[in-house]
Amino acid sequence: MTKITLIPGDGIGPEITAAALQIIEKSGADIEFEEYYAGVTALEKCGDILPAETVANIEKNTVALKGPLTTPLGTGFRSVNVQLRKIFDLYANVRPAKNFKGIRTPFDGVDLITVRENTEGLYTGIEYEINKDVTQAVRVITRPSTERVIKYAFDLAVSQGRKKVSVFHKSNIMKITDGLFTSVAEEIAKGYPGIECDYHIIDAACMKLVTNPEKFDVIVTSNLFGDIISDLTSGLIGGLGLTCGSNIGKDAAIFEAVHGSAPDIAGQNKANPTALLMAAVQMLYHIGQPDAAVKIQTAVERTIEEGKYTTVDIGGNTSCSDYAKAVIDNM
Ligand code: NAI
Repeated sequence: MTKITLIPGDGIGPEITAAALQIIEKSGADIEFEEYYAGVTALEKCGDILPAETVANIEKNTVALKGPLTTPLGTGFRSVNVQLRKIFDLYANVRPAKNFKGIRTPFDGVDLITVRENTEGLYTGIEYEINKDVTQAVRVITRPSTERVIKYAFDLAVSQGRKKVSVFHKSNIMKITDGLFTSVAEEIAKGYPGIECDYHIIDAACMKLVTNPEKFDVIVTSNLFGDIISDLTSGLIGGLGLTCGSNIGKDAAIFEAVHGSAPDIAGQNKANPTALLMAAVQMLYHIGQPDAAVKIQTAVERTIEEGKYTTVDIGGNTSCSDYAKAVIDNM
């Protein structure tokens, strides 16, 4: 039995976690969850946003399933998500976006994966005030971090039988930092002759994503761009309630929903647990339990395609808990 650290998280976190747990249990997955706190919930319960025992448990288990964590805007503590990614050196954030049958969107044929560099770029937290009217942030791009994330994207393309890796950058303006990012990509691409590689300036890439998203396959980009475009690609397939992210490092991996703690609907049993369930699916593949992963994914897809029991965010009126029951019935 594989032990997994479970962090239900803040806002809608506990609701979607409860729903996901029932479904995971019915899938026959051979796992045992060990529950720990992080974020605002941890601050309230333990007086610390990231308690040492939570970090120690992830270190022991090396795999975690995590609900969303609230981060105060503008002021207050540093994002716990960013801290976890740093502590465990989770360098690749992998965010798939694929159409679900039954959800009408402007596009068919979306099936892409964004691989976002997860440890540096503009999210290093090196920000300061020069005076009250002038502030500065430092954008860090290094060769080792760029090499490993671009290599990860190419290896992912090979392992999933995908054809193309697209590099998103802004090296026309950020000539040194994104100049390094693109030149490292060019070097690494040479080692993968079977995979096409193309380059897009980030602003034009956004336009192409919302006009011809089916042309993209695997996308690799730096931290901030990846954060933004992976929410954009969630929108392409029906919204944040559907897409998951895997934070992958050499020694640990944390699986989560892409969305946040959704304070506007927290506590109302309205949230869509699909994103967290898809994170669990990725986690089950990661730990070598594909049968349970396929069971959950198929049941979710069937439930959404039938359209009888879907949550408010994708046009239905089913509660989070009733949706979980429908998925279990379809399993
Ligand atoms: P959000 O993703 O929480 O919500 C944006 C919109 O999407 C809201 O209208 C919300 O109701 C809706 N939504 C999100 N998830 C949903 C779901 N599962 N089902 C149905 N509707 C859903 O983004 P927001 O409001 O910008 O951030 C709220 C908090 O979450 C902030 O403190 C932010 O820092 C944090 N956050 C945490 C993340 C994480 O833990 N990975 C990721 C993004 C934001």
